[in-house]
Amino acid sequence: MKISGKTKVLGIIGRPVEHSLSPVMHNASIAELGLDYAYVPFHVEAEDLGTAVNGLRALGVKGFNVTIPHKTAVMPFLDKISPEAELSGAVNTVSRENNRLVGYNTDGTGLLKSLREDLNFNPAGASVLLMGAGGAARGALAALCTAGVSRVIIANRTETRGRELMESFMGKFNTVKFGISSIEPAELEAGLKSVDLLLNTTSVGMNGSAFAGINLAGMCHGAVIYDMVYSPPETPLLAAAASIGIPCANGIGMLAAQGEAAFSIWTGLEPPPGFMRKCLMNELQGQLSS
Ligand code: ATR
Repeated sequence: MKISGKTKVLGIIGRPVEHSLSPVMHNASIAELGLDYAYVPFHVEAEDLGTAVNGLRALGVKGFNVTIPHKTAVMPFLDKISPEAELSGAVNTVSRENNRLVGYNTDGTGLLKSLREDLNFNPAGASVLLMGAGGAARGALAALCTAGVSRVIIANRTETRGRELMESFMGKFNTVKFGISSIEPAELEAGLKSVDLLLNTTSVGMNGSAFAGINLAGMCHGAVIYDMVYSPPETPLLAAAASIGIPCANGIGMLAAQGEAAFSIWTGLEPPPGFMRKCLMNELQGQLSS
């Protein structure tokens, strides 16, 4: 990569950001397309967020990703928020457009693309059991409701949080039927009997953690399971699904697809199909074997 006076800067702000896979896939895509951009990680503390965003603005940075814990906190520092970011309550991509910083959320479109490509899942009219009620769950709910699901059960460890998430969406999507559930195995298994998609948005599954003994055998024929966790690539939930032949996928496709969408917002170009996913897989494979 040759940095010159004309090179446009992209980046990511987060804390921590050292382990982010985004610099690898974006810089590889920049090189693949022969573009004059460079993508840099910036570690930003919560108390420095406003100063950092204004600094990026003053430096004329072309765009940046926003990751944990700044996805919601960044919103007041931007000039415009896209409708899907507003609904998600989070921004993961900022683009400089006519000297204004515009906030987008590409996680939701990334999820829908991965569900379609990896599981052939069509959200229109579907029934979903959503595990979790945090930021990732809100983004997923925004995308699924916008895409026309007919029913969502939110299952969260802290039930009040699940209820709050449900209530904040109820008024906005009159055609969607909402319900809540605990994460007790018996209650979850009852809910699972009537859904087309089980979607895990929690961090459960990372580092070998697992939900307490859920039996997936009662799920309908044709139902699928998506786990947003991608490291390890096969979480206990996915292993249980695979062992009884339920189609399932981890979050790698979503990570790649949100990156592709951000890249295209900034550059107007798309990396070759499957390129970002391949970069991510190589990088994760390298991390696992080192
Ligand atoms: P994110 O922005 O990644 O969604 P978050 O807002 O902290 O992160 O939300 C984490 C989600 O994972 C929550 O739904 C959380 O449940 P609580 O609301 O009860 O905290 C869920 N979660 C995290 N660890 C969990 C565990 N060990 N068992 C069950 N749910 C868990």
